[in-house]
Amino acid sequence: MRKHIVAGNWKMNTTVPEGVALAKAVVEASKNLPEGVELVVAPPFTHLVPVAQALEGSKVQLSAQNCADKESGAYTGEVAADMLVSAGCGLTILGHSERRQYYGETDEKLVEKVRLALGAGLKVILCVGENLDQREAGQHFDVVKSQIENVLFNFTAEDMKNIIVAYEPVWAIGTGKTATAEQAEEIHACIRKVLAGKFGAQVADDTSILYGGSCKPSNAKELFAQSDIDGGLIGGAALKADSFIQIAQSF
Ligand code: 13P
Repeated sequence: MRKHIVAGNWKMNTTVPEGVALAKAVVEASKNLPEGVELVVAPPFTHLVPVAQALEGSKVQLSAQNCADKESGAYTGEVAADMLVSAGCGLTILGHSERRQYYGETDEKLVEKVRLALGAGLKVILCVGENLDQREAGQHFDVVKSQIENVLFNFTAEDMKNIIVAYEPVWAIGTGKTATAEQAEEIHACIRKVLAGKFGAQVADDTSILYGGSCKPSNAKELFAQSDIDGGLIGGAALKADSFIQIAQSF
């Protein structure tokens, strides 16, 4: 059975001491969580080692927000997948729309990143999602389908055990405008169908598909009640331990 996961993407927020304090608060609050919900925090690179220490002995998992599309060498400013493992990460987010939009991340590059991340032993949270123009033009299903095909169809059913998908409609990220539960569910169901077509029904059924985009305590319950929504990738509301945990309590 697939897992329920709530992951906090801190993006480029908090100093190192603030991040460590937030991680400690999440660990504290996570003691009141129902069984069967996995918690993940994804701080900036600079925070990974001290946050890993703050999470020690807890069930909260550590994720990076990105990794390099190269293994090692002369790539100034980049961080490789095995470096993330050595810093204590078990996962990395890849293909976030902010990376696609502002840093030219393409599906082709993402194939390499996913390959290297899986090879290093990381789980991957792969983000997909349409922007506002694509939504208004009615292209949302096609856009998401092609992102899934272009990246994940290069991998195997075995690889899929370590891949989590996050549907994040760009128009809902940081805007306060959430996709309705119906809008999110129909895309999640479509993603699962696309995965089933390639990898079989069992793999599709076992893959966790998270929703991201202005998910907060007030709307998480309705979103998580949908049959194909297995959790959330949370931005703004993950910067406070209370709201992050309230979201995780919404299952
Ligand atoms: P917000 O929750 O701030 O809309 O961000 C969502 C997101 O991009 C998580 O990766």
